[in-house]
Amino acid sequence: MLLLGIETSCDETAAAVVRDGREVLSNVLSTQVPIHRKYGGVVPELACRQHVAVISNVVCAAMDKAKIDFQDLSGIAVTQGPGLMGALLVGLSYAKALAYRHHLRLIGVHHLEGHIAAVHLENRIVHLPAVALVVSGGHTMLYYVPVHGPLKSLGQSVDDAAGEAFDKGAKMMGLSYPGGPAIDRIARTGDPTRLTFPRPCLNHDSLDMSFSGLKTSLRYYLERSGFPSASDVNTPDVAAAFQQAIVDVLVEKTLSAADRRRVRTVFVTGGVAANTVLRRQLTEICKERGLQLKIPSPGYCTDNGAMIAAAGYFRMNGRKESSLAMSPQATLAMSETGFTGG
Ligand code: KG4
Ligand code: ZN
Repeated sequence: MLLLGIETSCDETAAAVVRDGREVLSNVLSTQVPIHRKYGGVVPELACRQHVAVISNVVCAAMDKAKIDFQDLSGIAVTQGPGLMGALLVGLSYAKALAYRHHLRLIGVHHLEGHIAAVHLENRIVHLPAVALVVSGGHTMLYYVPVHGPLKSLGQSVDDAAGEAFDKGAKMMGLSYPGGPAIDRIARTGDPTRLTFPRPCLNHDSLDMSFSGLKTSLRYYLERSGFPSASDVNTPDVAAAFQQAIVDVLVEKTLSAADRRRVRTVFVTGGVAANTVLRRQLTEICKERGLQLKIPSPGYCTDNGAMIAAAGYFRMNGRKESSLAMSPQATLAMSETGFTGG
């Protein structure tokens, strides 16, 4: 089954063709990072204008690279939400028009469902049940993924998402947008042990997390140190310590979730799952504990069209389709009938 996946929920215009939810035939992405960088964050109006400007080329490039025609497709999967309303509207309208014109089935996909489905890409064999950490710019969620039936939420950030903490922390340190990759890069030359930032919620019984206190603690540290003029602030060390605090919370809560649910498989997805230290630390600990760790390749952790096509495939298998009347949803709860990908 060949599906075209379209993703425009935030600042990437992406399209991909995926066979049977696992084999990526093409994956095309037009990033808006250079447009938003000078504002230090995503400007919604600019984001939707840019989606309008490039969506046609991105979709055509994905079809060309996959060497297929629209008649070869079994359907089109598109991100319905959550995300920026105007940005979602561009992808959804484009997908509807294509589906109507070529008589194709249309599947609306929850963005986080897409991130979770990315664990199947590149033909990975995945064993369920699992716990899934979805960690992006807008969400930090822990789910139980059963063999059949809906996902169950186990915990989440009660304030900032981990990606948001990376982005805001980087801004405070004078690093470029997006902050996650900037911190990841600069922290490689830093020592994470010279400073200690708080690990909020680590000792609590709940699987919820919190990152806004960590951000405040960074701000106080920088203010106390007279940053940016003071010469004794070592940005690589600060970035490494800040990153380590976020990673420790994510790793601890994820392992604790796996323990409590007695599962042997752990999924980690979303933009922050591209983080080098998070990947390394989880790989080591999961190996020690005999857990099967599934983290997509970094390019499939951040927003992409292939993950939407994969989620669409599992929805279609579950006989779930959408109608042309579907509308974009800036806030969208994970479907009750949700995805399992089993
Ligand atoms: O999933 P994603 O591409 O978009 C959303 O759905 O939000 O995630 C974007 C987030 C941003 O906050 C970005 O700073 C973070 O993922 N990110 C990273 C890394 N690459 C992207 N955070 C830490 N380390 C990275 N290497
Ligand atoms: Zn995302």
